[in-house]
Amino acid sequence: RDNGLARTPPMGWNSWNKFAGRVDDAAVRAMADAMASNGMRDAGYVYVNIDDTWEGERDAQGNITTNRKFPDMKALADYVHAKGLKLGIYSSPGPNTCAGYEGSYGHEAQDARTYAAWGIDYLKYDWCGARNIYTDAEMPAVYQKMGDALLATGRPIVYSLCQYGREDVWTWGADVGGNLWRTTGDIRDTWDSMTRIGFAQDSLARFAKPGHWNDPDMLEIGNGGMSADEYRTHMSLWSILAAPLLAGNDLRAMTPEIRDILLNREVIAIDQDAGGKQGARAWQDGDREIWTRELADGSRAVALFNRGDAPASITARWASLGVRARQARDLWAHQDVSPGSEHTATVPAHGVVLLRVTR
Ligand code: GLA
Repeated sequence: RDNGLARTPPMGWNSWNKFAGRVDDAAVRAMADAMASNGMRDAGYVYVNIDDTWEGERDAQGNITTNRKFPDMKALADYVHAKGLKLGIYSSPGPNTCAGYEGSYGHEAQDARTYAAWGIDYLKYDWCGARNIYTDAEMPAVYQKMGDALLATGRPIVYSLCQYGREDVWTWGADVGGNLWRTTGDIRDTWDSMTRIGFAQDSLARFAKPGHWNDPDMLEIGNGGMSADEYRTHMSLWSILAAPLLAGNDLRAMTPEIRDILLNREVIAIDQDAGGKQGARAWQDGDREIWTRELADGSRAVALFNRGDAPASITARWASLGVRARQARDLWAHQDVSPGSEHTATVPAHGVVLLRVTR
């Protein structure tokens, strides 16, 4: 049951973190315009994903319709496609979505066909509204039903499972056709929320592989609740985790600093590494942590994280990390550093030094 999609973690934008219920056709077009012109599309951010609150009623034949915020979903998909981007949408296996809109319960195959007819390329399927209908134990079968329905349409549609990591979804998400599965509850735009999620992903590394990814939730970079150092930690950690990179900010109003974080090609290359091996924690001493990720060319991503409130010195000793180092590059400073047998950096409070170490 492999749809062949998402050979590397999906990249794009999703409406929820910034717009929530205020997303509409104009906003989605504006984000597509921004992505096509600000370098994001060319850096790999191709999915433009509408989250909850687009749904209308069902018509007499049971077909799902859009509400008045989205006058013509097919036309919107055409617009997004013409920009060289792809369009994503959202539903729930329950009768209602998380925000109380119409869900897909009893209409799974019909909805999949509607999405395909509109030209949808990505579905996020959120358990929330199914809580009162199904038991958690029924999740795999319920998710499989939509996975099969999407496959049956013949249209390539990325399938995103959103059930907050319940029932050890990483052990069955791929089997039901999932390209990614949420591993946690919702992220918020705070240091506490982001780190509580990100640094807890260590044990899930072995479940990620090309086509099937752990999803520690969408990016909050640029939404204003964290410092630039904290957002660099967010971007670095998600890249070490081979996590989907779904920006969640208003792409029309990015500062150059935020743009440079989301568009750092050397960091994106870590996230999108063809080997598809998720990284993990290699060393920890209190607030100081080193995470590493094996890359397809035999090099390693090595991230020195300082979770503390004051700058801290962190030393990466290649031998004890199992890394052979002939060359090392600092991916935020965009500078080669001399590798020697170890590398010591002063890492800012809540910050990161991310290295690519080549043997
Ligand atoms: C849940 C999901 C979020 C978002 C909202 C929409 O909370 O986890 O990512 O999709 O529903 O209602």
